[in-house]
Amino acid sequence: MCRAAPDHNQDVSRHDIAPGGNEMALATGERRQGFRPSLKGIGAVLGTGALVWGALAVQAAIVGERQESTTARLEQQIAQVQAGPPAQAQRYTTEVSDQAKAQPFDATLPPATTAPVKEITLTATDDTIVGIAKDINFTGWTFGGSVPAKPLRVRQGDTVKFTLVNNGKVGHSMDFHAASINPGAAFKTVLPGQSFSFEWKAVNPGVYMFHCGTPPVIEHIGNGMYGAIIVDPAEGLAPAKEFALVQSEYYLDKKGEVYTGHVGKMMEGTPDYVVWNGMANQYVASPLKADPGELIRLWVVNAGPSQTSAFHVIGAVFSAYYPDGNLANKQVGVSTATIPAGGAAMFELTIPDAGTYPFVTHSFADASKGAIGVLQVGTPAAGEADGHTMDAPASGHGSAAAVKLDVTMLDNKFAQPQLSAKAGEMVSVNVVNKGSALHNLRIAGVPGDGGKDAQSALLTGGASGSFTFTPAKAGTYKFICDVHPVEMTGTLTVK
Ligand code: CU
Ligand code: CU
Repeated sequence: MCRAAPDHNQDVSRHDIAPGGNEMALATGERRQGFRPSLKGIGAVLGTGALVWGALAVQAAIVGERQESTTARLEQQIAQVQAGPPAQAQRYTTEVSDQAKAQPFDATLPPATTAPVKEITLTATDDTIVGIAKDINFTGWTFGGSVPAKPLRVRQGDTVKFTLVNNGKVGHSMDFHAASINPGAAFKTVLPGQSFSFEWKAVNPGVYMFHCGTPPVIEHIGNGMYGAIIVDPAEGLAPAKEFALVQSEYYLDKKGEVYTGHVGKMMEGTPDYVVWNGMANQYVASPLKADPGELIRLWVVNAGPSQTSAFHVIGAVFSAYYPDGNLANKQVGVSTATIPAGGAAMFELTIPDAGTYPFVTHSFADASKGAIGVLQVGTPAAGEADGHTMDAPASGHGSAAAVKLDVTMLDNKFAQPQLSAKAGEMVSVNVVNKGSALHNLRIAGVPGDGGKDAQSALLTGGASGSFTFTPAKAGTYKFICDVHPVEMTGTLTVK
């Protein structure tokens, strides 16, 4: 079954699939360099709190900045590292890496090719600098130069001819959870400078983790050696907008101007960041997009190495959830699903109303360390969480209301936790998010638009919005932020 490949053969780089729509990094040693911009030019383009911008403008600013200020950039990085550990950086939970702003990890997923044999070559590296959060560059151990590896996609029944090329400094290996194969023979460690091939048959449809299995495994996974492989069922899948998402953890140690993995923290299970597709909060800055009413299919892998994911989309219920992505495992009407470390699942949902729907691990300690993204459905109304700042309350809304309430959101509390209104009188609420995390305000048990609880949109830092409602009955109602339901609460008293 397994055959040893000739040492580091450049000719093994043929491949028949185009995972993630990108050329896979092949046996050429090609590496993605982490992006290390100075913030000066970018800040001018973005402005405070602005999370929507012309990507081209940002790119242009970045290119200019690169040429202009290598020294300034280095100085800034050093100053930033000296300023303190990332435990502080992670406090602002919706801050987004400038790398993410320029080029988020592509989560879209094109179909598998029809070739019955998929030749896949991945190059292992262990010194690739990747941006993982705002101002945080990390020495990633990678498959193909990115963390996670770009998603792979094959079809049930395909033969996968896989070659691992080790361009690293230590031994690495490849463990496909989708494969049924003698691990001692196939998943063996390949020494630096060597390559190794094995083949397996994609018998089980679904979505699976792959990772380096060289001991200590926690270090190789914790440093970034993992990805998702999707095996399409032989019978095919309904057309959908598809995305691949990998949840994982980073444990950081300070080594000069970049960070490296901290094995002690990995062993204690105390991550500094928990992320989707390798970078904290990147899809808050660059939301995944779908249309109202469109079938959305999410292939989700939890790479760990250790945390459990509680996958949830705020404001939506999954019409179907398939543990391990196998259609035979269908469950319906699921709001939140457990994905163990090393596990995976496929989710289908259809969102009727335009808006901004965050996807999170509902283990909120982890979500607040960066595992929040946004699914943007249609075009959100003005004032929704697209980063636009509305200067004044919506004139049409406010004018008819008898009661006007202003609420300021901070990280993480409401500046006005006590509000009052009168039964039968229309209330207009203006909400300003002066924090940097994502917040909303929802009044539990008081109907607003469309029969849902009266609520604001989810607002990014610096954004504002408004909503109206008319309380029918006197009483005391709790209002909360759905993202921070424990810390951010208040009371509305209706007389
Ligand atoms: Cu490895
Ligand atoms: Cu909040």
